[in-house]
Amino acid sequence: MPRNSSYIVQVGEEGRFRLDILNNVFGPQSQRFLRRAGLKEGMRVLDVGCGTGNMSLTIAEFVGNAGSVTGIDISEEQLVVARTKAKEKNIININFQQLSAEDILSFGEKYDFIYCRFVLMHLASPQKVLRNLYLSLNSGGILATEEPTMSSCFSVPSSVAFKRSVEILMDCANKLNLNFDVGDKLFEIYRAIGCADSDIHIELAQQVVTQNPEKRLMEFLVVEAAPKYIANGVSTQEEIEHIAKEMKALTDQPGSYIGSCRQTQVWTSLPRAKL
Ligand SMILES: C[S@@+](CC[C@H](N)C(=O)[O-])C[C@H]1O[C@@H](n2cnc3c(N)ncnc32)[C@H](O)[C@@H]1O
Repeated sequence: MPRNSSYIVQVGEEGRFRLDILNNVFGPQSQRFLRRAGLKEGMRVLDVGCGTGNMSLTIAEFVGNAGSVTGIDISEEQLVVARTKAKEKNIININFQQLSAEDILSFGEKYDFIYCRFVLMHLASPQKVLRNLYLSLNSGGILATEEPTMSSCFSVPSSVAFKRSVEILMDCANKLNLNFDVGDKLFEIYRAIGCADSDIHIELAQQVVTQNPEKRLMEFLVVEAAPKYIANGVSTQEEIEHIAKEMKALTDQPGSYIGSCRQTQVWTSLPRAKL
């Protein structure tokens, strides 16, 4: 079974809770983004790196039974959870298939709308993948991506432990040759795959998170990514336990809040073929 060995967090049931919390934080802004980008009822949609399917399910409900959603992910464990969720919600216009985003052209399918969120950050060649996604659009189809600038996360009040959690995350990404600030590169990447500046729509979104458990998202990330941090020599078990304890105390503090990572939201469309 293929894996992305650079993926730093858990997959399947072990990762489900954190991705659900992530979706509580980012889901509403993602839905607004999808509507602005032009998602419509009846569209045939591809959700790339769909994870446990949270956005795929939302999109499937939005496009209705006249449309459909295919969710792909490199991890079969993620897809098992996604299929269970679809079944529980009785959503039938959806299917999930194991495929690496790197191999999308081998799929040989075309879509009206292609979406990905928090995925290019995990890829060694985001530009190559984005180009292939662009080539997988139907005439007039829309490509919409939202990716983070992880270094932009912050806490109020300021916390040494919180800042350190961001620092080791970025250090680990560097060691793995990944860019967890890829949101800042999206405009450049869309230009590099051949989109004209005037066709690239770009916006920013950043949430203020005031409620638990959502405030604890970065703490959950530190704990889940601990084995990768240790394996890559960017932290120790002892430090991670200390950071996690301090972050829990921070988020328990009444009046504290978290500035989530800034998301760069970009969409473009493939020009309509001339008859
Ligand atoms: C942070 S999760 C985001 C999941 C989902 N897009 C969301 O926003 O809830 C990143 C996902 O990308 C998947 N992934 C990593 N590398 C991939 C690849 N090369 N092709 C397809 N999926 C990949 C991981 O398995 C994981 O499910």
